Amino acid sequence: MDRNADAPWSKFDPEAYVDVNYRTPLDVDLLILRAMRDHFSRCFEGVVPQSVLGIDVGAGANMYPALAMLPWCEKIVLLEYAQPNVAYLDRQTAEGGLDATWGAFWDVLLEDPAYRDVEPAERIAEIVRVERGNLFDLDAQPRRYDLGTMFFVADSMSECPDEFRRGVRCFMNTLSPGAPFAAAFMKESVGYWVGDQHYPAYRVNEERARESLAEFTGELEIRDLHQVVRKGHEGMLLVLGRRNSTVAVP
Ligand SMILES: C[S@@+](CC[C@H](N)C(=O)[O-])C[C@H]1O[C@@H](n2cnc3c(N)ncnc32)[C@H](O)[C@@H]1O
Repeated sequence: MDRNADAPWSKFDPEAYVDVNYRTPLDVDLLILRAMRDHFSRCFEGVVPQSVLGIDVGAGANMYPALAMLPWCEKIVLLEYAQPNVAYLDRQTAEGGLDATWGAFWDVLLEDPAYRDVEPAERIAEIVRVERGNLFDLDAQPRRYDLGTMFFVADSMSECPDEFRRGVRCFMNTLSPGAPFAAAFMKESVGYWVGDQHYPAYRVNEERARESLAEFTGELEIRDLHQVVRKGHEGMLLVLGRRNSTVAVP
């Protein structure tokens, strides 16, 4: 069984990944983005957030979770393990570096007035920090972040059930009580290719996702999106919720 540490992360090709997944926005991502935007807007409605610290875990070559968090955060950390993805994120977050690819995603966010006063490239360069790190080490930073996202990571980094659950737990434990969060999983994925490299996945379904998340939130919504974007999976699961105050021990 392929574990997280066995996969060729140093050979991850972010441009090949963006070409397949984001260069032309897929309907399912726009659907996810709308739902995440509305969830965050609802959670922060009537609240003037002060010093909200956000995190996107395993950010890879995807800027849309960070874009969705922009209006609410004073700082956002993009945590990523693979060095080529860290370099990609460094380029995206440099002044004037945000690629035009992300414009179509920003247009969807702009349908909500909360996003209208934000200039995305400028704000990204101002408040986003890229950190090279391991999701499993987030256990050492309990209750640090007030808003969090984790897209296609705990399910798309290992075949092992225990690493999936540990990944979810590390993400949830780094969120503060009440923190809104969004996560997405590829349903029943058997692994995926990026260029000529193969990466492992855990076969998550709605029940397994619910089991792994239940203790961390009393407000959990899991949407089963039936769009299949390639061979080897059965759709996507979008998870929206707010963190409760439980801290689960490793
Ligand atoms: C399928 S990609 C998802 C990337 C991005 N979040 C997205 O929505 O497209 C999986 C990501 O998890 C990252 N990753 C794998 N193992 C990790 C770990 N132990 N800690 C942090 N990130 C990890 C990979 O480098 C890769 O960027």
